[in-house]
Amino acid sequence: MLAGKVGIVTGGAQGLGRCVAELAVAEGSKVVIADINEDLGNDVVEAIRSRDGAAMFEVADVSDNEQVQALVERTVAEYGRLNWICNNAVGGAGDFGLLHELDSDNWSRTVDVCMKGVFHGMKHAIPVMLEQGAGSVINITTSGLFKGEAMLAAYIAAKGGVHTLTMTAAAEYSARGVRVNSVAPGGMETRAIQRYFEKYPEFKQKTVNTHAMRRLGKPEEVAEPVVWLASDRASFVTGSCIVCDGGTLVNSHLL
Ligand SMILES: NC(=O)c1ccc[n+]([C@@H]2O[C@H](COP(=O)([O-])OP(=O)(O)OC[C@H]3O[C@@H](n4cnc5c(N)ncnc54)[C@H](O)[C@@H]3O)[C@@H](O)[C@H]2O)c1
Repeated sequence: MLAGKVGIVTGGAQGLGRCVAELAVAEGSKVVIADINEDLGNDVVEAIRSRDGAAMFEVADVSDNEQVQALVERTVAEYGRLNWICNNAVGGAGDFGLLHELDSDNWSRTVDVCMKGVFHGMKHAIPVMLEQGAGSVINITTSGLFKGEAMLAAYIAAKGGVHTLTMTAAAEYSARGVRVNSVAPGGMETRAIQRYFEKYPEFKQKTVNTHAMRRLGKPEEVAEPVVWLASDRASFVTGSCIVCDGGTLVNSHLL
């Protein structure tokens, strides 16, 4: 699906980002993994190269405009182009609590990574894509943004911002060949959610029960629509959100 393409995955050192990177390479893409976790990022590159895939790691904090600019420049310098970017990094979302209890600095950090980081990714990737006349942006949100999510005000607000930013960018750039879409996952079995369940074990079953499928997703399952959106097979899809959430939004309390 991605033969000859070059892409960037932010937050690609683990979880969903790692799965997107590995699936994209399996589908023929070269991938740049960007993350603040150097050790895990290099592990992903090593695993991909051991299967004869093309990948490199770049340290980049997505909340920092200059670092994301440098990331895009290094990608183009190394691989000659940039066909797709998956803005996936999540951080600063550790502050779990009622809105009036949230710490203002933590709010800012969450929004800086989860929303401003996506802005930076698009701001620097899209000019390269416009010059090429084609490109695909995939932003990762959460299906929780469509209903609100108690105890996660800063995170949900940031994801809501990414949802509208995605549609706005699609309105601005689709006529010039750049498609912009998002994927909204439900709960996935990644370290992020595992850490949360370790801290709040009573929430595990409750979270599973919010899914009509009565299970969490595997990050590999959510990577599928991301890679499809990155590919030319999604050539008429822009400004859309693919909800990939095990039925969280259609779940019924009666069953
Ligand atoms: N896990 C879930 O249940 C779930 C549910 C809905 C949506 N999502 C979304 O899916 C995406 C992936 O989540 P995940 O569970 O794989 O997360 P994860 O915590 O497993 O991985 C996130 C990665 O982002 C990196 N990161 C953190 N701050 C960064 C920064 N400032 N710059 C660059 N990289 C940074 C981390 O080092 C880590 O490697 C996120 O956008 C998240 O909001 C996750």
